[in-house]
Amino acid sequence: MSARQPLRIGILGSGKGSNCQSIIDAIAQKRLDAEIACVLSDVAEACILARARRHRIPAEFISGAPFKTKLDGEAEQAYIAALRRYGANAVALAGFMRIVKPGLLGAFPGRILNIHPALLPAFPGMESWKQALAYGVKVTGCTVHLVDAGTDTGPIVVQKAVPVLEDDTAETLHARIQVEEHKAYPEALQLLAEGRLAVAGRRVRVT
Ligand code: GRF
Repeated sequence: MSARQPLRIGILGSGKGSNCQSIIDAIAQKRLDAEIACVLSDVAEACILARARRHRIPAEFISGAPFKTKLDGEAEQAYIAALRRYGANAVALAGFMRIVKPGLLGAFPGRILNIHPALLPAFPGMESWKQALAYGVKVTGCTVHLVDAGTDTGPIVVQKAVPVLEDDTAETLHARIQVEEHKAYPEALQLLAEGRLAVAGRRVRVT
């Protein structure tokens, strides 16, 4: 039997990159047995790129144009080419504000994860913490899931619950969800690194 390849993560993000930081920290603290191959962003001035560069991680802006909300066509091919060039063998979407399409999914089958700020399948889509607050749920949280062709629909790997407090605002609730995200993402990636995710239909079993 051949030895398992070390996990080399390509991180895709559009924003501040706090989840990217949690992955960097988990690797440094040896809670996550992986390397970050590269950080790619569709926003040239995104903090996630500056963060990666500070840690001497290869970081590139790659335009998603002409599309605004999906990664498709030539832009998708440019992302796949960069991920391959940097030797990524898995992809972590960390605040990447585009729907990924079959081209990227097919290039890394079963090896693309996303983090979502709600307990899926509740509150898919944008600004889920605001949706949760407006709905009046008492508990929300975060979800790390494998990415499929839907929006926030893939098999669930790790979830963490966060109580909604009486005096929560959108900002305080999102801040507490992010604390849990920063634990959940490295945990899920470590399961992928150890080859312990067995997917059967919708269900992910940790072996
Ligand atoms: C997180 O809340 C994540 O759940 C969502 O986008 C946000 C990204 O935050 N998908 P950051 O850029 O990692 O700080």
